[in-house]
Amino acid sequence: MTTACAPGKVILFGEHAVVYGRPAIAVPVTQVRACAMVEDGPLGQGVIIDATDLHLRHQAGDPVPATSPAYALEATVRNALQRLGIGGLPDLTLTVSSTVPIASGMGSGAAVATAIVRALAQHVGQALSPAEVSQLVYQTEVIHHGTPSGIDNTVIAFGQPVYFVRGQPIETLRVGRPFWLVIGDTGSQSPTKDVVGDVRRAWQAEPEKYEALFDRIGAVATRAGRAIEQGRPSALGELMDENQELLQAIHVSSPQLEKLIHSARTAGAMGAKLCGAGRGGNMIALVARAKAQRVADMLRTAGAVNFVISEVGAASSMSG
Ligand code: MEV
Repeated sequence: MTTACAPGKVILFGEHAVVYGRPAIAVPVTQVRACAMVEDGPLGQGVIIDATDLHLRHQAGDPVPATSPAYALEATVRNALQRLGIGGLPDLTLTVSSTVPIASGMGSGAAVATAIVRALAQHVGQALSPAEVSQLVYQTEVIHHGTPSGIDNTVIAFGQPVYFVRGQPIETLRVGRPFWLVIGDTGSQSPTKDVVGDVRRAWQAEPEKYEALFDRIGAVATRAGRAIEQGRPSALGELMDENQELLQAIHVSSPQLEKLIHSARTAGAMGAKLCGAGRGGNMIALVARAKAQRVADMLRTAGAVNFVISEVGAASSMSG
């Protein structure tokens, strides 16, 4: 029996614009994670995928629609086995579990796929580099999202903060001085594919306007990257607020997200924004360590169904 896990993630700066080649910054969130367990099964069993959280048990090879989670899970297994040089479908049971909220901007699909790829590689005694894992998980991201930038698979497979530009070599980001985030969940799911599709249609309708907005988002991410590396996290609050205004301008915020963002700022956060595709899912707030719990409590009062307090650039802490 072999088990492997992978963290969730949040995008600190640059979501959406990153799909159009602008830089973005993402960090792993270790308080939530996906795990995959591989066990050998009886002869002739083939591959069985058990995803307890999704109430799903799937026999590989059984027909499923391309929109079903089973389809992406089976594709991940098949791609990984092929990469590992295993022909056909061996007899094994893969049990997947995850505490990463689904369709909520925390990289649930990429975390599950990363855990599966790592568990299969370990089970057959092979080592895959983070870049190889990331590449395989990207193929699953294409099934989930259609046109992913690649930031989710990268930050999750590498397990480190990244300054990401689509199509360019991976740049991990050195965190000059650790800082604290509170991540609040609106509890409303919002599939990335839908929001990314809407942004694409809006960009096609008004390319100049959207290109200019993406440029401004990219410029914020560049400034934020410098501040993080130079150990000036206090500069990030204002940049998060600026990024949020630009995300509003591309119509990916929502009244629930705005409510949580406003509450976080009222409770003393230095800045706040949605994270991931938006329209639902999670938001993040930059906080002084001493104010983290107060901001989290205020988010709960404002309707957050869950929160995570996370230290970026050092060992992390708690959720509730
Ligand atoms: C999703 O986590 C982030 C988006 O920028 C999409 C992508 O980068 O593929 C919205």
